[in-house]
Amino acid sequence: MAKEFVSFKLEEFQSLYETTVDVNLADSGCHPVKLSELVDSKEGVDALLDCDLHYPAVGGTTELRDAIADFVGISGPQKSETVLVTVGAAEANAIAVASLVKPGDNVLVMSPGYQQISGLATNIGAKIHELRFKEPVSAGAPWTLDLNLVPIGVRFSVVAVNNPNNPLGRILNTDEMRAVVEIAKRSGAWLLSDEVYRGSERTSDEVTPSFWSMYDKVVCVGSLSKAFGLPGLRVGWLCAHPDLIQSFWRRHEYLTISTGILSMHLATIAVRPATRARLFARNRQLVREGYKRLEKFVTEHSDVLEMSAPDATALGFVRFKGIKLTSEEFCHEVRKRASVLVAPGAHFGAESHFRITHGVVPEMLEDALGRLSEVVRDLQRGYPV
Ligand SMILES: Cc1ncc(COP(=O)(O)O)c(C=O)c1O
Repeated sequence: MAKEFVSFKLEEFQSLYETTVDVNLADSGCHPVKLSELVDSKEGVDALLDCDLHYPAVGGTTELRDAIADFVGISGPQKSETVLVTVGAAEANAIAVASLVKPGDNVLVMSPGYQQISGLATNIGAKIHELRFKEPVSAGAPWTLDLNLVPIGVRFSVVAVNNPNNPLGRILNTDEMRAVVEIAKRSGAWLLSDEVYRGSERTSDEVTPSFWSMYDKVVCVGSLSKAFGLPGLRVGWLCAHPDLIQSFWRRHEYLTISTGILSMHLATIAVRPATRARLFARNRQLVREGYKRLEKFVTEHSDVLEMSAPDATALGFVRFKGIKLTSEEFCHEVRKRASVLVAPGAHFGAESHFRITHGVVPEMLEDALGRLSEVVRDLQRGYPV
């Protein structure tokens, strides 16, 4: 008998409620870039207006695929054939899972984590295992990857990681990256590395290393939605051996055919080294300033809230203490009372937490934090729910 379809709880929560609130802080990127920030010259505007609204190159233009390859650190004569341009990382992950996971397979995923891979693999009939980050015992200490909890003797078909991680913002260090590769190697598994937050580093100006060159059976996923601040373009990518890219491409033809031609044009501008550097600098500044505000807020409410400092991303993953609600109930209270949307920790596999985006313009964040403060204090006092 077919198992019941598992929906993507986080995305379901966001799509149901994000248009119903005054302030949406349940998204995972920075305040979006305006078209005028990306195309800021007369020649640029003319080139955009001159675009034929035809179907674009289905797998992405060679210029865009080359630029993405450079960003991921792929070189050699086949570099453009190593990249397939998709409709966001969402399509990229969906293609990768559909291609690499069969019913009954064992799949290892990070937890807490963005649950797209686990949901897709579950719906195919795979068994999910967790590569867990351990919650810190003392407030503010980092979450640590617990490699001892990875089941021994299980043969994984896919080991899926997300680095930097959503929702924790943790960047794996070199030893942790090597250990992840070893786990994949032991099973001969594919390493599916979702790297959409590369470029959103908070504590350094170095782009997080890719898993690309660390293992031959690697598939890297990227996107313009996060560190580039361009989620509305719906552009993402898959990087893999050219033969595998061809089989991903066959699925892409069924699913979406291609992303839009205007998106492809604008993506080519965004990924060029000079624009990329400018966008990363813009977004890192939002991340750094937003984090300071969020940190101050959490400190002022330290009797009820705590958070570990993220290395990257515009995300805070905040634990609430002494409030007897599930994370879903908590987020619904915040939504209903304050008209602010934050995302339940349960949708990442960690109860008693909520995820909040801080990389937005200061007025918006301050407004939301003020509203959140009132709700948190009410809930702490046991205000009737
Ligand atoms: C880890 C991760 N992967 C993929 C996605 C989907 O990104 P995109 O907007 O590029 O489809 C998200 C979005 O939140 C994400 O956090």
